[in-house]
Formats: sequence, structure tokens, C-alpha cells
Amino acid sequence: MTDIVVLGSTNMDLVAYVAKPPQRGETVTGREFRTIPGGKGANQAIAAAHAGGTVSMIGAVGNDAFGTRLRTTLEHSGVNTDHLRTVESPSGTAHIVVDDEGGNAIVVVPGANSAVDHLAPGDEVLIASVDALLLQLEVPLAAVVAGARAARAHGVRTILTPAPAQPLPPELLAVTDLLVPNEHEAATLTGRTDPREAATALLDSVPEVVITLGSSGSLYAARGAQPLTVPAPRVTAVDSTGAGDTFVGALAVALGEGRPVREGLAWASAAAALSVQRPGASASMPYRSEIETQYAS
Ligand code: RIB
Ligand code: NA
Repeated sequence: MTDIVVLGSTNMDLVAYVAKPPQRGETVTGREFRTIPGGKGANQAIAAAHAGGTVSMIGAVGNDAFGTRLRTTLEHSGVNTDHLRTVESPSGTAHIVVDDEGGNAIVVVPGANSAVDHLAPGDEVLIASVDALLLQLEVPLAAVVAGARAARAHGVRTILTPAPAQPLPPELLAVTDLLVPNEHEAATLTGRTDPREAATALLDSVPEVVITLGSSGSLYAARGAQPLTVPAPRVTAVDSTGAGDTFVGALAVALGEGRPVREGLAWASAAAALSVQRPGASASMPYRSEIETQYAS
């Protein structure tokens, strides 16, 4: 069993499915609307729990109906929410347009996630007790840095998804063990669009990097080792929202179980490939048995 803490966001995803997203000033008619629990933090927590990890979530929801649903969704997935605060604020929301190719455009309004700007009493003790801490950038950077420092102080592996894309302060990179950007985020961090070059550049700051390459799989690089590329299963995407989060959650579980990196990447890709074939973020995250079946095929 892999013990994991996720420090990050919870958002209610307000998703419109539409053939072609509107241009500025244009109105288009969508096909369908769904409210689906999401947020990069909650997504990674649910993905890791479904994949077989023992997971706790540090974060905040608002004191509204979305907050209640976000909390119960985590709990129904088996995620411990003792360190998930409810704050006097609307819950975070993500306003998402998904097109017919399964691609998306997203506006995130942080709401309650803005309150996650420090570690609360007890958070450090929780972090100290696990195998890995998963971090993203949808809560204030101060908390991300504090969480990563606490993890480092206790020898807990830190896995950072640098999303939404933004430059990272050196003090955060200094306490990051594994950085998992997508191609776009890797380019934002390094100014290099070639994933291999970006990975090499990132190794100046962190010891291990995985760059996710969408349908092309993933690239792993570590200091003093040959880079490794692992392909993804070929599937038809209907909604890729949260695919990166699914990948990271599953990867953290696999690595925590001591699986070799190549196997962990293939396993995580199998999980992400399953998730893109179903609508929504958290709602699409596969269970361990499904991942095993996809991985074996
Ligand atoms: O990574 C996907 C997530 O990003 C969505 O669930 C949405 O909430 C946005 O935060
Ligand atoms: Na999906």
C-alpha cells in the first residue's frame, strides 16, 4: 500500500460539451452540461485512491452546496478528509468547455482554495507519516512551498505537477523530488519546446522529471541516467479533463509500491487512457482492477 497526502485544490467543474468552442463575441449552442467534482488536488487524490493508495487530502471547500458535494465525493472514493477545511467562501469552480475531440479550455475561479495559504495545525504531522506528497499550483504558492519543505524535512517524496503553468520559485524546486509537467508546462518552465531538451534543462533544478506527452505517452529523465520514453495506449478521447491528474495519482501509487519507473509510467498511462474515454475529471478515474486490465492488454 502506498500512503499519500495530496495538498491542493478542490473545484466544482461546470462543463459544457460543444462541437466547436465559441470565439470572442460569439455565442454557440452546447450539447450537454454537467457539474462534475474536480480540481487538480482532488483529482489526484481520487485517482490515487482508486488506483489502490491510502490517501488524505489537505485543502479547503466552501460553505455551499458545491463544497458539500466535493467533500462527499472525496469520502466516497475513500479519501480521508480530516484535513480538508470548510471555509466562509464560495467553493472553487472551473468553467470548462469540452470540444468534440475531447480537448478543453478552462477558467478556474479559486474561491475557497485561496484560503489554503499555509499549513494548518496537524498538517505537518500528517505529511511526515506518508510515502509521498502530491502538489499542484491551484492553491497559493506559500502553502505549496510549506508542504514541500515539511515533506523534505521528514524524508517524504514530493511530486509536483506545475499546473496551471507558471514560473516556479527556486525555493520550491529545491524541495521537489519529482516534477511532472506536460509539454506546455515544461516549455513555460524552460523556454524549450522539445521535451527532451526541456527535461534536460529541468534536471538542473530537480533530480527527476516526467513530462507527459498526451497521446504520445510520457518521457522520464533523471540525473545520470538515459531518458526513457513510454508510449500510451491508443484510444479515442471524449474528455481529457483530469487526464494528467489521473496519470500522477496512479504513478505515485505505482512508485510507492516499488514498481520500476518504466512499469510505473506504463501503468499511469493505462490509467490516463481509461480516464479520457469517459466524461469528466474525478468521475472518469479508473479503479485498480481496470488499470491492471488495460495495462496487461
Ligand atoms: O486538471 C484538471 C482540473 O483542472 C479540472 O478538474 C479543473 O477543476 C481544473 O482545476
Ligand atoms: Na475524462
